[in-house]
Amino acid sequence: MTRYIKAFDPDTIHHGNKGISVDHETVAGKVRELLGRMTLAQKINEIRGRQAEPIDGLYYAGGDDSLAIPPYKMVDGPRGARAGNATAFPVAMARGATFDVELERRVGLAIGLEVAVRGGNVLLAPTINLLRHPGWGRAQESYSEDTFHMGAMAVSFVSGVQNHVLASPKHFALNNVENTRFEMSANVDPRTLHEVYLPHFKRCVQEGVAASVMSAYNKMNETYCGEHPELLTNILRDTWGFTGFVESDWVLGTRSIAPALKAGLDIEMPAPYRFSDENLLDAIEQGELSEDDIDRAAGNALYQKIAYDLANLTQPDPSVVESDEHIALAQEVAEKSIVLLKNDTNILPLADEPGLRIAVVGELADEINLGDRGSSFVSSSEVTTPLQGLESRVSNAYLEYFPPEVPMEDLENFDVTIVIPGLTYKDEGEFIPTLQQEAENDSALARGGDREDLELPLRQRELIIRAAAFSNRTIVVLQGGSAIQVREWIDSVDALCMAWYPGREGGHAIARVLFGDVNPSGRLPVTFPKYMEQLVPWDVTSLEVEHDYLQGYRYVDCELHDPEYPFGFGLSYTTFSADNLYVEREQNNFHIRVDITNTGNHAGATVVQLYLDCPDSAVLRAINTLKGFGRVQLEPGETATLEIELPDSELAFYDVDTSEWHVEETNYIFRAGFSSRDLPLTSTWELADGNWLPTD
Ligand code: GLC
Repeated sequence: MTRYIKAFDPDTIHHGNKGISVDHETVAGKVRELLGRMTLAQKINEIRGRQAEPIDGLYYAGGDDSLAIPPYKMVDGPRGARAGNATAFPVAMARGATFDVELERRVGLAIGLEVAVRGGNVLLAPTINLLRHPGWGRAQESYSEDTFHMGAMAVSFVSGVQNHVLASPKHFALNNVENTRFEMSANVDPRTLHEVYLPHFKRCVQEGVAASVMSAYNKMNETYCGEHPELLTNILRDTWGFTGFVESDWVLGTRSIAPALKAGLDIEMPAPYRFSDENLLDAIEQGELSEDDIDRAAGNALYQKIAYDLANLTQPDPSVVESDEHIALAQEVAEKSIVLLKNDTNILPLADEPGLRIAVVGELADEINLGDRGSSFVSSSEVTTPLQGLESRVSNAYLEYFPPEVPMEDLENFDVTIVIPGLTYKDEGEFIPTLQQEAENDSALARGGDREDLELPLRQRELIIRAAAFSNRTIVVLQGGSAIQVREWIDSVDALCMAWYPGREGGHAIARVLFGDVNPSGRLPVTFPKYMEQLVPWDVTSLEVEHDYLQGYRYVDCELHDPEYPFGFGLSYTTFSADNLYVEREQNNFHIRVDITNTGNHAGATVVQLYLDCPDSAVLRAINTLKGFGRVQLEPGETATLEIELPDSELAFYDVDTSEWHVEETNYIFRAGFSSRDLPLTSTWELADGNWLPTD
C-alpha cells in the first residue's frame, strides 16, 4: 500500500487562521459606520503608537474606551514572545532548515498563544527579508535565500499565529542589510522585485491573509519604504488586495507626515513623533493632508480590530507559556533543524559505550547562546547548553569538558573531541550601537550588525585547528544564524553539524543527534560558499545596494561556482533514493509525484526538492529555481510517494513591458532530488501554441 504525502496541504496549514474567514464587506461596512461616529481627534488617535517604551513588552497603538475600540498591543518577535519569559524557539533560519511547513505552523500556533497570554494581539513577525547575502546581520531572523522556500515557511507560520493573534510579516521590503538600514537604498528592477524579493510577502498577504505588514526602514529605489506609494498602495493593496494595516518600523520607519500617509502608511510606531496631533492638524490646515487621508489610515487601522473582534479576545491560561508541550516543540524543531554537513568517516552517530572517552572544547559549549539580543530576543526561564545536553545524555562513556584555559595536549588521550564554536549576538544581529560605544568611540561595544565576511572569529578558528591537531577524531558543532565559511579547517575534522541558534532545548537536540537518538534531517536554507568571492558583492558600508536578479544558489549556479555546501544540502545516518518522477498536466497546474525510498538501516527523514529550469527562455533565468519541496519520514526499506501541486503562477515570469505575469512558450525542465546540486530525476515539457506536451 503506497503512502502518499502532500508536500503542502493548505487545509492542514491554514486551519484556524482567523484572517481567512473574515467577511470583508461586513467588516468594511462596520469600519465605515464606526468612522462616521468618530471625531477627527479620535481618528488621529488610531494611527499612531502611544509611547516609545513598551509596557510589559507590549507596544500600544490607538484604542478608545468611549467607543469600545481596543488598542493594538504589539509584541516582538520571530522566535518567541518578547514579553516576560516565553518559550525560546530556535531562530527562523534554523526552522527554515527543517523544510517542514507543518512544524512551522505549530511554532506559529505556540508563539501566537504565548503572545495572547501576555495580553498581546499583534505579533511583529515573521521576518521574511530574503538573504541577498548571508552576511546580513539579521539573517538568523529570516528563513531563507530562496523566495519559494521562504514563502512556504512564512505562510505556515502566519496561519499558525493567526489562530490566536495578528501576524505582521516584516520588513516590507528589501531590508537585507543591517548597519546602514536607516539610510541605504535597495535598488532593484521591477522583474527582480516581483520575482525575487516580493513573492513571499505576496503569499503571506494573499494566501495567509496576513493581518498587517511592517514597512521597512530602508529606501527602495531612493524612496523610503515607509512612504513608498508603489509598495504600500499600488502593489500591496491595489494589486495584492491587502485589507489590513501597515505599521512603520520603529521611530525612523516614519520619515514624513503627508507623504507617508498618502503613500499608504497607516500607523506610526511606536509613538506620535510625526503623526502628532499638532503636525497632522497643521498638515490639514496647510492643505497637505485631507480628512479623507486620515479616514483611510484610521479605517485601515480599525479594520483588524473589528475583523478579529479584538475587544473580546480571550486571554489563554498563563500555564501555556513555556508549557511542557511548547518546550517539547522547541526541542523537536531544534532536532529537525540540525544539518549534518560532513561525516566522511561515519564517526557519527557516537555510541554511548563504556570505555569511550569524549572531550568537549569551546567556550560556547558551556554558554547560553540563543542568538540576537535585539528585537528578536526572547527571555527563557531555562536554557540547556550543549555541554549540559551532552552530560545529561551520556551515561556509559566518559565525557570531560576542557574549559578555554586548559591546554589541549591531553586531547590525544580521548577517542573523540567535540568542538562547539560559532557566532554570538556580538558577531551578528540587529545593529544597536550602544551609547557607551559612542561615548568611548569603541566600535567593539556596538553589538550585532552585518558580518563583513563569513569566517568564524579568529579565536574560534584557532580553537578548531588546535583541538583537531591534538585529537584522534574531531566533531565540530557550529552555532550561528547563517552561512559560515569552513574551508580553512574543514579538512582537519571528521564531522561537521550546523546547529544554528537552536533555542532553549538546543543542548538536548545536539546531544540526541550526535548519539543517533535523532537522525539528522536538516537541509541548508542558505548556500555555504567556499569563499566570499563565490557570492554577490557585499559591502556593509554602502548606501546604494544593487539587488540583481540572481543571488544565493541561483547566482552561485550561474557563475559556475562549486560551493562548500549547496542550498538544500544535508546528510543523514541513512540513505535515500528518488525514483519515478511523474509529471501530469492538469487544468492550470502540474501534478507531480516522486517515489522516495529509505535505502539504509536507520529510520530518517529527507527533503525532496523540485526545481525548474527554462534553458531556452527569452529572458534571464537561473539554472535551477526551487518550485516545490516536501519532507518525507521513512522506516528502513520503506517507500512513499511525495505529491507536489505546481500552479502555473509558479511557472510565470514578470514581464516588465506589460507589468503582467506571463507563462512563456518555451521548454521547461523539472528536476527532482535532494539538493540544488543533487537532482537525479528530470521531466521535460514544452509549451507551444497554448499546449503543454511532454518532450522526454
Ligand atoms: C525594530 C526592528 C523591528 C522590531 C521593532 C520593534 O527596530 O527593526 O523588527 O519589530 O524595532 O522592536
